[in-house]
Formats: sequence, structure tokens, C-alpha cells
Amino acid sequence: MGISNCKHLRFCGLHLNSLASKCVALVVIALVLRAVFLPMFNKNLFAFDNGPSTLKREFRIEKTKFLEVPQIIWGLNNQKIAFARAALTARMLNRALLMPSMSASLFYKEVDLLQPISFDKVFQFEKFNSLCKGFVQLGRYSEVSNHSDVFKLQKRSGRRWTVEKDLDQLGQFSNNPYHRYEIIQIVGKNPFLWHDHWPVKDYAKIFECLVLVEEISREADKIVSKIREIGSKEIRKVGPSQNVVDSVPYVAVHMRIERDWMIHCKKLEQRSNISEICSSKEEILERVGNIVGLKTPAVIYLAVADTLLEDDSILTGWKEGLLPLEKKKLGVVEVYEKHPYLIQSAIDYEVCLRSDVFVGNSFSTFSSLAVLDRTQKMIKMGARNICGMEAKWPSYSYNLHGESRGPRPWATNMSDLNLQAISYGGKFIVADDGGGPAEAANGLPRLPNAIGLPGHGMQGNLHAAAPVNFMLKPVCGPLFTPIRLCNYLFEWL
Ligand SMILES: *[C@@H]1O[C@H](CO)[C@@H](O)[C@H](O)[C@H]1NC(C)=O
Ligand SMILES: *[C@@H]1O[C@H](CO)[C@@H](O)[C@H](O)[C@H]1NC(C)=O
Ligand SMILES: *[C@@H]1O[C@H](CO)[C@@H](O)[C@H](O)[C@H]1NC(C)=O
Repeated sequence: MGISNCKHLRFCGLHLNSLASKCVALVVIALVLRAVFLPMFNKNLFAFDNGPSTLKREFRIEKTKFLEVPQIIWGLNNQKIAFARAALTARMLNRALLMPSMSASLFYKEVDLLQPISFDKVFQFEKFNSLCKGFVQLGRYSEVSNHSDVFKLQKRSGRRWTVEKDLDQLGQFSNNPYHRYEIIQIVGKNPFLWHDHWPVKDYAKIFECLVLVEEISREADKIVSKIREIGSKEIRKVGPSQNVVDSVPYVAVHMRIERDWMIHCKKLEQRSNISEICSSKEEILERVGNIVGLKTPAVIYLAVADTLLEDDSILTGWKEGLLPLEKKKLGVVEVYEKHPYLIQSAIDYEVCLRSDVFVGNSFSTFSSLAVLDRTQKMIKMGARNICGMEAKWPSYSYNLHGESRGPRPWATNMSDLNLQAISYGGKFIVADDGGGPAEAANGLPRLPNAIGLPGHGMQGNLHAAAPVNFMLKPVCGPLFTPIRLCNYLFEWL
């Protein structure tokens, strides 16, 4: 081939006998030989190499670098947001996130009581990496080759530490000279309190990669099948004339009326001058009873704080055709009791996520993330309608009024620029004062006293109001018909 090429070149009138041309030809030949033989040579080098590391370094591809973050704390959904924020920070720094430690219990102040739980006890590690491949990656501590090759990055805060400054800093840390450290360790604040720089769809992508470990999702399966089983049995009992299909639809209502929440939401209403945050039991009953297009009979699964399970009145007063059930009535209390707070919350979340219809409070982090997940699932399916009964997994917010005295259809605006932007009004995220008096010495923000949450004793209260709430602004509204708004939304997706 080389010879025919030469002939061809001569025909084309190139002056091969000039010195320069000969040099060019030699270089080309050298390059071809290198391309052909180098991989072999390379392999041999590694196979037989026991020599000094300098030899190896020449052929080594760039090693994975890591980001390490502080323990992730608070409620399940605060932990999920914090995890996503840490993962997106790692992505920005071109690093893998070292598998963080989460918290199994819900203690706000007593840091020593925050039982750490490894990420892979809750979510599938390999599955996360395969689903999020090319986007973000998780690393294990065993993959680190030199644990002392660490740069400690103190996360700055305070009023003067703006979002822009924070972003600039991250930009710097993705380059030299910091790039050479195997680990960048962020010290200080819980990632939930870091500035937010990422669009909602990036968060949604990370949440999609969070798949519960089998042990936990099996528990959720048990509860979902119990809901359907008991639901259809009971419904057959009350209405034998009804055409009951094998699987009865269930509506999950994330019913927040426990005392802690009521105190918290009243304060929010005062601070924000918005009257549509708290909903009484009566308001929830009425709005859920008036969901436009909901086929009855239907099962209502009440996702409530454990303290409310003692109060049988939550099961009464529902409109005819709606059969309310909660853990006690389902006989699944012991399924929950086996697990620590975080896992209980993850099971409840899953049960809400898989419901045919979800109704929550648009000021609750738990509800907001459930709606975000459900919206994302529908978008992935290429659904045309994501609001109202036309949608495959419709969601509603009972604290906002919709048509016909029903709840307002609710979907997440995936094209929004950050979680803060879609948080209701943006202004309720508790401003973090950094080193100010609001922050306790342990780096956790002190609870606003007015909210009056106890520092402990929150165990069993799955839906405890977190010190920092995050809510997603509903995009389906009464000003537009849900369908029109959805079509409009679709153009943005
Ligand atoms: C590990 O990293 C530290 C800090 O960069 C360095 O001083 C040390 O030589 C490294 N050890 C090895 C075995 O490379
Ligand atoms: C609260 O909202 C009402 C009506 O939206 C308005 O008239 C009033 O001025 C607001 N108060 C404050 C303190 O912002
Ligand atoms: C969704 O977010 C984008 C970007 O912030 C905004 O322009 C758009 O109006 C929002 N859509 C709705 C329906 O709120």
C-alpha cells in the first residue's frame, strides 16, 4: 500500500525527491506505525512493568477525582435535594461524588444522634451509576488511591456570599491548581444549604437515578398491594352493584394537619402574607371529594404523621364513594416500625409516588418532590397531558382551590432555572445567615423559635416540618384550563 501511494503521489507531480517531502513521508510512516503498534507496546509495558512509576505515568489515562461532602441530614426529601446538589456540584468540578453518608434519624440539633446511614443502604449504588452514566457518577472510598491527597474547601456563607460568588468559586475549583488533588472535601454546611446553581431538569435527572434498594421497594410493594386488595374488598362490600374492576384506583393524600405542621404553616402564612398554605381537615375532605373527573369508588390512602393514626376522626367525613385507609386500617404499622425514620419515610414516599392520583400540599417538600417525580415520569413517557384527570399520574394541591371547589391540578415546571425559582414565591426558603446568630455552632441553622419544633422526639413523625422548607410552585392553575396550560408547558419541555 505504501508503494502504490508513492506511485500515485509521483503521478500527481509531487517532488518526492526534495528533502522536505522525504521528511514528511517519514513522519507519516512513523505515525502509521505508531498507531498500529502502540496499543500492543502499551499492553506489554503494563504487563511486564514493575519499574518506577514515572514510566507508567506517561501512558496512564486521567484518574478519577473525587468530591467529598458533609453528612446529609434532615427529612428524606431534604436529604434527596442535598444529595442532588452535591452530585451536581461534583459534576461541575468534573469529579465523581464519594458516596455520602445520609441520616437515618431526624434530629435537628443533636448532631451526635444523627445515625449515619450509607447511601447504598437506601438507594442502589450500581443502578445509580448506570442510570446517571455520563451525567454524574458516584465513587466508593475504596476507589481512592491516596486518602491524604485532599484539598479542604470551606463552603462560604453569609449575606455577602452571593450566588454569583459561589458559582465563580466552583468554576475556580474545577481548574488548576485544585484539579490535581485527588479529593476536594467540602467542609461545613449541609449541602441542602448550599447555593443552588442548577436547573430543575438536572435535579429531576438525578432523582430519576435514585432507585430504592430492593428491600425497601418490596416493603412499598406490600403496602401498595394491601391498599388495592383491602380497597377492592371493602368497596365490593359497600357497593355490590358497582362495577368494580380488579384493581381499584387509589388516591394518595399527603394530609398535613398534625399540630407541628399547623404551627409551622400558620407562621409561614403570616411571614409570607399568603393565606393558602394551611388546609384544615374539612378543607382537604371537601377538595379531594370534588376532584373533577375522579372515578368512584376509589380508595383514599392517607399518608399522615403517626400522631394522627391515634385519631380515628381522619377516617370519617369523606364523600360517598371514597374509602379512606391509613396504615393502621391496612394493618401495616409493623411493616413501618421495623425501620428507622428515613426508611419509613422512603416507603411512604414510594406509596404516594405510585398512586393513581396524588393530592398534597404545595408548601410541603415531600409533596413537591412527589409531584416532580410524577411529572418527570410522564414527560419521559411523552405524555401529552400532565395535568388533571387526563394525565396518567395526575397530582393536585389541596391547599390551592381549583375548579368546582376541587383542588388545583399540579405539575412541576421542568424548564425553570433552579429549585429556588420554582419554590413558591422564592422568599420562604429560610435565609441562611452564615456565621450569624441563626446558625448554631455545629453548622446547623438554629430552628426558628417561632416554629417551635422540638429538637428531638420527632421520630415516627414522617412528615415533620423541616427547619427549611422547599416547595414547588404549581404550574397548573385555575386561570387557564389545565389542558391549555399543559400544552403551553409542553412547548417549554
Ligand atoms: C499522597 O498525597 C500526599 C499529598 O498530596 C503526598 O504528599 C503523598 O506523597 C502522596 N502519597 C503517595 C503514595 O502518592
Ligand atoms: C398582604 O396581602 C394583601 C392582599 O394580597 C395586601 O392588601 C396587603 O397589603 C399585604 N400586606 C403586606 C404586609 O404585604
Ligand atoms: C416555566 O418556567 C419558565 C422559565 O422560568 C418560565 O418562563 C415559564 O413561564 C414557566 N411556565 C409556567 C407555566 O409557569
